[in-house]
Amino acid sequence: MIALADRFRLDGRTAVVTGGLGRLGPIWARVLCEAGARVAAVDLPGFPVPNSLADLQGDGALEVFGADVTSRESVDRMAVEVEERLGEVDILVNNAGIDAPPEATARTFTLADHDAGVFLRTLQVNVLSAFVCSQVFGSRMAQRGHGAIVNIGSLYASVSPDARLYEHLPADPPFLKPPAYGASKAALVNLTRYLATHWGPAGVRVNALSPGGVEGGQDPEFKRKFNERVPLGRMCAPEDLEGPLLFLASGASSYVTGVELLVDGGFTAW
Ligand SMILES: NC(=O)c1ccc[n+]([C@@H]2O[C@H](COP(=O)([O-])OP(=O)(O)OC[C@H]3O[C@@H](n4cnc5c(N)ncnc54)[C@H](O)[C@@H]3O)[C@@H](O)[C@H]2O)c1
Repeated sequence: MIALADRFRLDGRTAVVTGGLGRLGPIWARVLCEAGARVAAVDLPGFPVPNSLADLQGDGALEVFGADVTSRESVDRMAVEVEERLGEVDILVNNAGIDAPPEATARTFTLADHDAGVFLRTLQVNVLSAFVCSQVFGSRMAQRGHGAIVNIGSLYASVSPDARLYEHLPADPPFLKPPAYGASKAALVNLTRYLATHWGPAGVRVNALSPGGVEGGQDPEFKRKFNERVPLGRMCAPEDLEGPLLFLASGASSYVTGVELLVDGGFTAW
């Protein structure tokens, strides 16, 4: 019998975090390292490594790999490098994504004129990349009979963004969240169910973790309006994400697969 606290440990495990050098990637990477895993932080080649990861790189818990995760060829190449340097991969966090955060400086568009190329690229990065990385790493996990995949969704997989949150921004035309964003996240959540049922018999668990809006320099008026919409009354802090990720990535969730864990302070409960 493994003690409860030990079921959250990841000693000897190797994890891949895609989009590992952005805002949330380092949060996932750090919690996985703290639980004992070696982590491959994968991001676009040449993407700057944030200072916040320097200590993990320094002690060898984390290594950075360049790849375009929408390309099968690029992911195959990266997978070989990761396995050579860190060993076979037990945990995959499909976190790479694109969005347009609400900023006064954002280039805005009308729905009628929205660029189909932007729509398609959003689907490629937010859904196709998770499929490609799952093909590559999930298939190997299935062969070995164990593994955990966590797909990073969003509260906008469940509900549509409320345009009133952005009305105060001085943009013309008014700021709109990209329409493909929520659509891509909803698709990712259902892809999670597909992969969970496909690989369940092989011992690979696949779940989605859907954060609410994460605090990160948004303007005060946006935050005020957003917080009013949240039963817990505030935006998501980085620490709020750590426990849920570790739960889904570790043996603590050994009988959990095919679910979407919403970490949104209750936003979607209203
Ligand atoms: N920040 C939030 O409030 C929030 C809320 C809910 C969900 N999310 C989701 O969390 C994930 C991370 O968000 P974030 O805020 O850290 O975004 P971010 O833009 O800061 O980071 C995303 C990272 O993905 C990388 N990336 C993009 N395309 C890539 C590609 N083709 N190949 C490899 N890497 C690529 C980027 O270079 C970047 O480092 C996203 O999937 C996002 O949709 C974020």
